[in-house]
Amino acid sequence: MAGIRALQRSDLPQVSTLFAQVMGGASAEHVAPYFHRILFEDPWADPDIPSLVHEGPDGGIVGFIAASTRRMVLDGRKVRMAVSSNLVAHPDWRSKGVGALLNRKLLGGPQEFTLADRANDDSRGLWLGLGGQELTGRSIAWFRVLAPAATAGELVGRRSARLGRAARLLSRPVDALGGRLVPPPPRPAGSTEDLTAEVLAEQVATAGRRLRLRPDYDAEYLEWVLGEVRRLDRGALAARLVRGPQGRVLGWFLYLLTPGGVAEVLQVGVTGTDPDPVLDHLVAHAAAQGASAVQGRLEPVTAGLIGRPGVVVRKNARALVHAEANVLGLLSSTTALCSHLDGEWLVSHAARQ
Ligand SMILES: CC(C)(COP(=O)(O)OP(=O)(O)OC[C@H]1O[C@@H](n2cnc3c(N)ncnc32)[C@H](O)[C@@H]1OP(=O)(O)O)[C@@H](O)C(=O)NCCC(=O)NCCS
Repeated sequence: MAGIRALQRSDLPQVSTLFAQVMGGASAEHVAPYFHRILFEDPWADPDIPSLVHEGPDGGIVGFIAASTRRMVLDGRKVRMAVSSNLVAHPDWRSKGVGALLNRKLLGGPQEFTLADRANDDSRGLWLGLGGQELTGRSIAWFRVLAPAATAGELVGRRSARLGRAARLLSRPVDALGGRLVPPPPRPAGSTEDLTAEVLAEQVATAGRRLRLRPDYDAEYLEWVLGEVRRLDRGALAARLVRGPQGRVLGWFLYLLTPGGVAEVLQVGVTGTDPDPVLDHLVAHAAAQGASAVQGRLEPVTAGLIGRPGVVVRKNARALVHAEANVLGLLSSTTALCSHLDGEWLVSHAARQ
């Protein structure tokens, strides 16, 4: 019967075929196990907030929206954030309300608020029509350039593989000559060390005394998330705890160093109120690993990088939220921790499978 219902494991072959058909380039055979892992094996998967399918009159699936639950603490209260992702409608069923109805059903769930932070312009239209808002700051990406020609080659390569190869070939000698065009990486005082899932959970809980909105991490969940990040095979994961010169913990950072040389920031956290030393350690660490640039999203914790020499900004995927005014306000402030690690980033790799 036509209508919306919760996704079942047995729907995955059909959903993956639909997804691969809509998102050219994805292979249904690889998408199905990926969806199985990120939607059903997630330790925080919550049957109250299921992914949804829209059936057509003959029972075939004509639309899909993925939902993931993130446990959060809001002003000391345990709440749930739903992360919406991978919305698709069958090409024969476009503009008939399938996407809007799936979105509306998900937004109406029992969660405190809902986030889609890798969205495109089509999703933005749907969300704004359903009472959502755009977090315009989080829709901006920044790059701290370390090797300008290599960064340019990588960015060109994201649009055209052929031009990217040519640009990368030229980049090495150009960067060797023009390295002085950008400031060298900072040399921050203090040190960094490996950050385990257990320590990250502890640090977020400790920093949580200052944060009004944060993830409610536990080691089991973080082990799973970090395992999935590694499984994406998109580069080497760096997870570091930052200490100041006296050994006090100042914060932490996690990034993926992609084969193109861009260090993609997944999370920056600070224990105090000054993120600058942690950001300096992040850039210095990525530079020491050979990164040509560090790329992040404009979040309150990384805002201090904007305007610094060597930092450029660019349009990013849209960050959309459906929330009450208090949560909206917190998400734009330094008293919230809600990073790529918590949003859609992890679950947005289906099209690359
Ligand atoms: C994005 C996508 C899922 C939209 O699905 P769709 O079923 O064609 O969209 P809908 O028919 O629900 O909505 C189309 C418009 O009609 C409106 N609409 C139609 N019926 C509606 C209803 N019953 N209730 C509310 N709004 C409705 C929507 O608000 C929307 O308005 P907009 O064009 O101003 O944004 C679809 O185009 C798609 O699969 N695109 C490719 C994948 C993609 O880009 N996904 C988003 C990933 S971030």
